[in-house]
Amino acid sequence: MVTFDYTLHAKRNPKAINVAEPRTRLSFNKDWKFFLGEKSGAQKPAFNDLTWRKLTLPHDWSIEGKFDEKNPAKPEGGGLPTGIGWYRKNFIAPANFKDRLIHIEFDGIYKNSEVWINGYYLGKRPYGYSSFSYEVSKYLKQGKNTIAVKVDNSAQPDSRWYSGSGIYRNVWLTSTAKIAVAQWGTNVQSTVMNIAEGTGTAMLSISNRLMNARASHQKIIVINTIYDAKGKLVLKKESPQFDLDTSGKTVFADVHIDKAKLWSVANPTQYKLITQIVQNKLVIDEKETLFGIRDAQFNAKYGFYLNDEHLKIQGVCLHHDLGALGAAINVRAMERQLEIMKGMGVNAIRTAHNPPAPEFLDLCDKMGFLVMDEAFDMWAKKKTKNDYHLAFAEWHKRDLEDMVKRDRNHPSIILWSIGNEIREQFDSTGIALTKQLVSIVKNLDQSRPVISALTETNAKKNFIYQANALDVYGLNYNHKLYKDFPKNYPDVKFLATETTSALETRGFYDTADTIRKWPRDGKTKFVEGNAEWSASAYDNVSAYWGSTHEETLKEAKKYNHVSGIFVWTGFDYLGEPLPYPWPARSSYFGIVDLAGFPKDSYYLYQSEWTNKPVLHILPHWNWEKGKTVQVWAYYNNADEVELYLNGKSLGKKSKQGEDLHVQWDVNYEPGTVKAISRKGGKEVLVTEVKTAGPAAKIQLIADRNHIKADGKDLSFVTVRVLDAVGNLVPNADQLVNFKIEGSGFIAGVDNGFQASLEPFKANYRKAFHGLCLAIVQAKEKEGTIKLTATAKGLSSSSIIINVKK
Ligand code: GAL
Repeated sequence: MVTFDYTLHAKRNPKAINVAEPRTRLSFNKDWKFFLGEKSGAQKPAFNDLTWRKLTLPHDWSIEGKFDEKNPAKPEGGGLPTGIGWYRKNFIAPANFKDRLIHIEFDGIYKNSEVWINGYYLGKRPYGYSSFSYEVSKYLKQGKNTIAVKVDNSAQPDSRWYSGSGIYRNVWLTSTAKIAVAQWGTNVQSTVMNIAEGTGTAMLSISNRLMNARASHQKIIVINTIYDAKGKLVLKKESPQFDLDTSGKTVFADVHIDKAKLWSVANPTQYKLITQIVQNKLVIDEKETLFGIRDAQFNAKYGFYLNDEHLKIQGVCLHHDLGALGAAINVRAMERQLEIMKGMGVNAIRTAHNPPAPEFLDLCDKMGFLVMDEAFDMWAKKKTKNDYHLAFAEWHKRDLEDMVKRDRNHPSIILWSIGNEIREQFDSTGIALTKQLVSIVKNLDQSRPVISALTETNAKKNFIYQANALDVYGLNYNHKLYKDFPKNYPDVKFLATETTSALETRGFYDTADTIRKWPRDGKTKFVEGNAEWSASAYDNVSAYWGSTHEETLKEAKKYNHVSGIFVWTGFDYLGEPLPYPWPARSSYFGIVDLAGFPKDSYYLYQSEWTNKPVLHILPHWNWEKGKTVQVWAYYNNADEVELYLNGKSLGKKSKQGEDLHVQWDVNYEPGTVKAISRKGGKEVLVTEVKTAGPAAKIQLIADRNHIKADGKDLSFVTVRVLDAVGNLVPNADQLVNFKIEGSGFIAGVDNGFQASLEPFKANYRKAFHGLCLAIVQAKEKEGTIKLTATAKGLSSSSIIINVKK
């Protein structure tokens, strides 16, 4: 909840300009009623919703449903139900709403939302990833008011991945004076010179879009004040008094900051702008905007530079779902995803293939990630029958403008993407559309390059490229073409917008002499695969258009002109279960599985993309006697790795040439396989894997033992199935039952298996390769949560999580 802070205000304005009623922006998530299905008349205030389910937003009804091959979204869409849903909420209008502007802001509704207030139709919004708002003051009345929202996600299939259904992002109620800064009305553009040691001279151009809903023009003053990250006043700029007429106005202020602290991946510092509108010595509106100052440049020869320092973009693509929580946003769940990505050395995220929740971008600003913010997966030409192409002609301008307006103050965003693998690249309509979309973006923000993720590699036949309007060339896949890119596209800036599409299942190992392409090509039916519905975690399987992790990494690191890569994908996501048919229902592409457990290739990236010492060996050590088992080691910060089996050395190895791992063929015998990495003869790290005995007990590990009593915070509890002496049992698949007591509830369960049809909303889950997950959510009451996990034949385990205000 955002409230006005009078003390801060008084501190900032010692000479006390008086404050009229402050702007408020309150969460509007609570006390909604929900009905799954069509209901005629539900928009009417008098409609009886007594029997409807009460819930708190954000909400995704699809994730609550049952997997079924026959669900219209199909396995590609996640195999969960979609349909129509209605939401209603009664609320008391803010005091003196007649003298105010009241907006209801929706961060995102999937999709085709229609909104009524007190029976008045406010409008519709087809695109499920856009944020939008309605001004409602004139429809409000004293006392009880009713808002009704119809969500129609029934026309299926509509997406190549899982979308979720419902009001899946936050809703806000904003109250301002009738003269106020508009939503997304503030923009801080900066250019930086004299960059040295994380600082620079910044020229800022601040613009504020002001609205005036009074009957006549008004005399006002605008004051822009900037504070640094520590809350120290940096500067203040006051406009002369001027006339604001009823059509509103955009007002500009140019200021500069010497020795501005620059935002970077390593030091993501931000500034705060407070914009005040003053009338008759009274502050009638005050709005806060976070922004960052940094210089980001792409260079055709040398790649990407942040604040004059070369930085290889080590990116991943992410879809918006949060695994077992579905599309319903949760800040902690997003933060955990980003923490896990940071841990492997990721410095950039591509929001595939749509604008993300605003909180996701806030986290990227705060945590130091670069972002490629993407608008669309299709334009006028469809990819699936009922996708956004149906709304494109009428809505694309608005949707694209709203994305840029909403997001342009985020220092994390370094690229606007106007689309992914857009069909119009293959025909001449692509030229005009590309030009139009680029100019929509440039009208609102000229400070960032515009890109599109392309697949047509013949420049002459690529009509998006032929439009000659993009700032950076985005290539998907085709890692063999990186080398000659400068020859084929002289002076063109280059980024590998999507790479790899390797296929892996955590904990499943299957050696192969050659790299497998699953499916083999675009024509042949997929007949390979195995009874486990799994793909080997040895990094030896990929989609035919992609590569293994190592293949692309090797190419990308060789060439400076490759600004960086966005690996498809950081996490597994719901939908697109390629290459397996049903019951597969989520992707195999993730470096991390859907539950958030890293697959082995996580450590490949960690060894390449971070400086922290890494020594990771695979696979587990439970095999049939006599089998030849390949043991791989990912390592860094060392010259060599020596492998031992039951104390006996199997030899030293070191990466040669382009190698990204070392490996041994080991004649299996049970016991301990141990690796030691050494640098200059000195031991760096030791890693061991032991043969596990029969499953005996459960271990619970919470990622956080203290969470907030805010009704939203989460603790992710990992369940490990261990043998009697504490080794993880690599193929354990026991059914684990959860009991939860106290101040929390189970928000979801998972085990990362891509073909599991168990529900995500449950108090049980089968272990998968030894692991499963319970996501525990805090209630609003302080206290403790006790989570107990039991399984047949295993000794059970409990964990305590503290819940505090
Ligand atoms: C790409 C596409 C992604 C995903 C991926 C799977 O071509 O852009 O959205 O479908 O393939 O390999």
